[in-house]
Amino acid sequence: MPITIQTYATKEEAVRVAADAFEALIRERAKTGKTAVLGLATGSTPIALYKELIRRHKEQGLSFKNVISFNLDEYCGLPGTHDQSYRYFMNEQLFNHVDIDRANTHVPLGTLPDAEIDAHCAAYEQAIRAAGGIDIQLLGIGRTGHIGFNEPPSSETTRTRKVHLDELTRRDNASFFGDVAHVPHHAITMGCGTVLDAKEVILLAWGEPKADIVAKSVKGPKTEMVPASWLQDHKNCVFILDRAAAAKL
Ligand code: F6R
Repeated sequence: MPITIQTYATKEEAVRVAADAFEALIRERAKTGKTAVLGLATGSTPIALYKELIRRHKEQGLSFKNVISFNLDEYCGLPGTHDQSYRYFMNEQLFNHVDIDRANTHVPLGTLPDAEIDAHCAAYEQAIRAAGGIDIQLLGIGRTGHIGFNEPPSSETTRTRKVHLDELTRRDNASFFGDVAHVPHHAITMGCGTVLDAKEVILLAWGEPKADIVAKSVKGPKTEMVPASWLQDHKNCVFILDRAAAAKL
């Protein structure tokens, strides 16, 4: 199934469209007392979306009481109190500002000893299944073609596990840490297979630096060297882009 492409003149417009999809799901489920299961991402890309969802919560009564969330990934070695951990990011950028039950928010644990990581990853997958599976998975894309932290090469069958971060990814994230030397070398991430199990996938990308990898993911061969290209196998995947990120399509 080809990936659906939606291109907007501005990031703000694109963000409103993405927020509409999340809002529609959450409200539709709330009407019948059901939960909405969201797969969430961190990084700079979704920040504007989270701001818009917070605005809708505060100004338009969008409640997150029926939301269960699973984040894609977490750096190894960083506790949730570390300001660069993805748990901290999610609290700051979304959870602290809406009425989500904190017990319903899941981010992989980055601080477990190696011997406990496999069991933790299996339990994460099991928790997603027990929640009924992910309804909408939000993604950004790394310039390596990673989704979550599934760096090339990553097959379409990978599941939640500990991975090694690509040097390009570490350099791209260096500004958040002050220096590349402080960026962790490993992370726990949902796998490509975990992402492909979501009922719907929404990938956001902004700006010229993402144009090449967006084009390769959408039009290139499906390959473990571009993990986002596996999204071509998904039945309900949309890339919501600004003009610059769509420039090479
Ligand atoms: C974040 C994640 C990553 C980012 C990607 C893009 O949870 O899993 O795949 O989406 O590295 O990062 P930004 O948005 O900072 O360009």
